[in-house]
Amino acid sequence: MTTPQLHSEIAAAAARLKAGGTVAFPTETVYGLGADISNPTAVRRIFEIKKRPSDHPLIVHMAGSSCLPHWARHVPEQAWRLAEHFWPGPLTLILPRSPCVPENVTGGQDTVGLRVPDHPVALALLGALGPERALAAPSANRFGRISPTTAAHVREELGEAVDMILDGGPCRVGLESTIVGFEGETAIILRPGGIPLAALAEVLNGKVVVAEGAKRTTRVPGSLSSHYAPLTPLGLVSQESIGHQFGSLVLKGLRVALIGWSDQHFPPDIGKNEKVVYFSMPAEPEGYGRQLYAALRQLDQQGFDFLLVETPPDETGWMAIRDRLQRASCISDFKFQIDENDSVRGARNAANETTSG
Ligand code: TXA
Ligand code: MG
Repeated sequence: MTTPQLHSEIAAAAARLKAGGTVAFPTETVYGLGADISNPTAVRRIFEIKKRPSDHPLIVHMAGSSCLPHWARHVPEQAWRLAEHFWPGPLTLILPRSPCVPENVTGGQDTVGLRVPDHPVALALLGALGPERALAAPSANRFGRISPTTAAHVREELGEAVDMILDGGPCRVGLESTIVGFEGETAIILRPGGIPLAALAEVLNGKVVVAEGAKRTTRVPGSLSSHYAPLTPLGLVSQESIGHQFGSLVLKGLRVALIGWSDQHFPPDIGKNEKVVYFSMPAEPEGYGRQLYAALRQLDQQGFDFLLVETPPDETGWMAIRDRLQRASCISDFKFQIDENDSVRGARNAANETTSG
């Protein structure tokens, strides 16, 4: 799309939003489904389109960190430091909600998730809305499913339900933002994401901790143990056992996609078996993260019985990827082994249950 065309699309999108419509737009992480937070009907529409429970809070997107005091009642010093360093960028700060943020946006919570996206289209759209307005924007997918990283994914997923889709090309990061909350001056990672732990630790002189599973689940529904899931059963399997697992699925006559990064398990005769595909992912986290959701979407549409994913390295730079794969997987090494005879049917049922809402 040419620049003047894009500008007029952005102006039209801003007008739609001001009139209470919904607009899907690109960010550097994933595409968001946006609505003006001051319009309760538009916000309700987001929950309806996504089929998302109304107590799951939405992230508020704003044009710059200077808007922070308008939407947050109190901003700890550490939060300012992170905002100044990482915004615009893939970081969401959970802060006490100011009276300007309606309760329906935060699912009744007294806190609000705030972020400044690093994408020229998103920033132009927020600029066109003006400093008094902000956009509630969850990822533009149905609840529990894979986030979209292209405009075509949004169209596939939401179709006519959304009033307009702005196309800003494929997302640069490809995984959702890192969500950080605060207990006093200690920063707590509630959802790993686009900003790696090491980068946060550097800016905060090491004063950052990663929330344990239980804490994350209560405060951040996006951290539910099943989320970000394809419809095809997905198993996350260690490097040591993937060859064996793969072999046993193939022996059962199943169509299997093997998704690896180390390329150690590329079966030499894979080209001869039409039921089997090897999908090679980048061996570094930025490239892997950028491609992950598009790869899962693509493989999900190819009628495989099973997606077998090689567990990524146990290093902090891979934390967000490991987190998403764990939530997308319906079967682990352990369960896979004890259920071996019945594993695929069991896995398929589990996948259907998790994606029904
Ligand atoms: O990268 C992103 O963050 C993308 C793009 C579109 O900005 N958005 C996104 O939104 O991932 P969503 O709604 O799919 O996930 C937001 C997560 C949810 O898990 C929600 O529970 C959590 O943020 N969240 C939002 N406000 C919160 C709050 N006040 N307290 C705790 N968690 C909150
Ligand atoms: Mg989401």
